Amino acid sequence: MGKIMIMDHPLIQHKLSILRDKSTASKDFRILIEEIAMLMTYEATRDLPLTDVEIETPITIMTAKKISGKKLAVVPILRAGIGMVDGVLNMIPSARVGHIGLYRDPETLQPVEYYCKLPADIGEREVLVVDPMLATGGSAIDAISQIKKRGPKHIKFMCTIAAPEGLDALKNSHPDVDIYCAALDEKLNDHGYIVPGLGDAGDRIFGTK
Ligand code: PRP
Ligand code: URA
Repeated sequence: MGKIMIMDHPLIQHKLSILRDKSTASKDFRILIEEIAMLMTYEATRDLPLTDVEIETPITIMTAKKISGKKLAVVPILRAGIGMVDGVLNMIPSARVGHIGLYRDPETLQPVEYYCKLPADIGEREVLVVDPMLATGGSAIDAISQIKKRGPKHIKFMCTIAAPEGLDALKNSHPDVDIYCAALDEKLNDHGYIVPGLGDAGDRIFGTK
């Protein structure tokens, strides 16, 4: 069974409150979503395996620790997931980046896939799928199903805000996936938006509304 972690770090919570505020402009929204992703990556990578390596400091030789194996692949769900990528890469600069393009049909709320390009060696990597919003869960479930076809070592999903409906759906469809959120909100409204949420993440990042 995968882990579910709601990150209550004060820095994450503080930045999330500014992010939610409707008066926060796109310019600041972009900076905040990247900073939150960076802080969440720090927490979500706590269990990465380490290996011993011999290094030489200016004083002596020592056995030190490094992360073992190939580094992660980060896969944003387009568009809004793009806003989180640089935050992850600030922490793990050698991570590879894949992209999955999905949008939610506004009538049916079903995800429609339009793009998928993943690193060739994804089968040898742990994958961190990022998207600011987990609403009905349809987009995350679909993206993770696509990635699983390529046999990655393990998958983690990271979002800023989850709705209980989306969290349950993702847990049920992919029980092996670890899920990290900065907040678990109250519910979805009749249009599939998270309440209280932050509105449309893609529009707020890219200023398209
Ligand atoms: C948003 C968000 C998620 C999805 C969540 O994307 O970024 O991908 O909705 O909703 P779900 O859990 O009900 O699937 P949207 O479809 O608005 O596309 P965009 O990122 O291109 O704006
Ligand atoms: N997608 C968003 O961008 N916001 C929501 O609240 C739900 C889905």
